[in-house]
Amino acid sequence: AFPKFKLNTGSSIPSIGLGTWKASEEDTYHAVLSALENGYRHIDTAAFYKNEPAVGKAINDSPVAREDIFVTTKLWCTQHKDPKGALKESLQRLGLSYVDMYLMHWPVMLKTDKITDGNYLVMPLNASGGRDTDVENWHFVKTWELMQDIPDSGLAKAIGVSNFSINNLKEILKPELGLVVPAANQIEIHPQLPQDELIDFCKTHGILVEAYSPLGSTSSPLLSALAVVEVAKKYNVEPAQVLINWGVSRGYCVLPKSVTPTRIVSNFRKVDLSAEDLQKISDVHKTLGGKRYLDADWGAFIPFV
Ligand code: A2P
Repeated sequence: AFPKFKLNTGSSIPSIGLGTWKASEEDTYHAVLSALENGYRHIDTAAFYKNEPAVGKAINDSPVAREDIFVTTKLWCTQHKDPKGALKESLQRLGLSYVDMYLMHWPVMLKTDKITDGNYLVMPLNASGGRDTDVENWHFVKTWELMQDIPDSGLAKAIGVSNFSINNLKEILKPELGLVVPAANQIEIHPQLPQDELIDFCKTHGILVEAYSPLGSTSSPLLSALAVVEVAKKYNVEPAQVLINWGVSRGYCVLPKSVTPTRIVSNFRKVDLSAEDLQKISDVHKTLGGKRYLDADWGAFIPFV
C-alpha cells in the first residue's frame, strides 16, 4: 500500500490523491466514487475546476466515512481579498462542513476570469507586450495573511499554497511576518519538470509537496518515453504506474487525474522501483527535453513586486 505523509500540522495525508482538473461534473462524480471504492482516500479539487458539487456528492454518497477522506480545494485567483468567504462558498458547493486542506491556487490575484484558456492560466499580452493587464494590484502575502485564521475556524484543517516558486515561498516565510508555514505547496512535477530545487526548499521548511500533472497531463510524451516504457516492462506494469511511483518514492504526494475506471484502479498500484530505475526516470528529461514551469514565478507579473 502507498504510505501516508505527515503534515506540519501533525495530521497525515495519503500519498496518492485523485486529481479532478478538466473532469466534467458527471465524470467527476463517477471518478470520485470509483476512486473511493478502490482505496483512494485523498481527493483534490478546486473552485476553478467547477466540479466541487460532484466531488462533494460522491464523497457524501460513498460508504467511506468523511473523516477517512482527505479533501483539498483551492481559492480561485479572483477571490484573494476574501479567502474565508470563498472557502465558505466552496464548502457550500461541496456540501461538506470542512475540507482537510485549503490552498491558495496561484500567488496572484486576477481581476477577471477571462484569462484562462482551460489549460494553463495564460496572461494576454498588453499593448506594451507586458502580461499584467488583468492582474489585480494585490500581493499574495496579504492573501496569506487573510488565510491565517482559517484552521481555527474549523472550515479547513490546514492551509497551504499552490504554484509557489521558491521566491514566492520566501516572501510568506519572512520571519518578521510571523505567518503560518504553509502545510503544502502543490506544483506541477513529472520527469520533464522534476523541480528538484523547489522540492528541496519545501522539505527544508516542512512544507509538504504535492505533484499535479504527474503523468505530464493530456497527450503526454512521457507515457511513451523509451526509459519509462522499458522500466514499466521490467516490472510488468504500465508507464503511468512507473511515473506515479517515481513521484511517491521521491517523497511527495502524487495526484494522478483520471476519469477512466480502469486507470483509476491501475494508478493506485504501489510498485517498488530500484534506485537505478528511479534514476533512469529522473534522466528522461535529458532525452525527451525539459519543460519550463509556465509562470512559475508569478511575482514577476505583479506590478509592485
Ligand atoms: P483520462 O482522465 O481520460 O483517463 P495528469 O494526471 O498528469 O494530469 O494526467 C491526466 C491525463 O492522463 C488524463 O488525460 C488522463 O486521461 C490520462 N491518464 C490517467 N491515467 C492514465 C493511465 N493509467 N494511462 C494512460 N493515461 C492516463
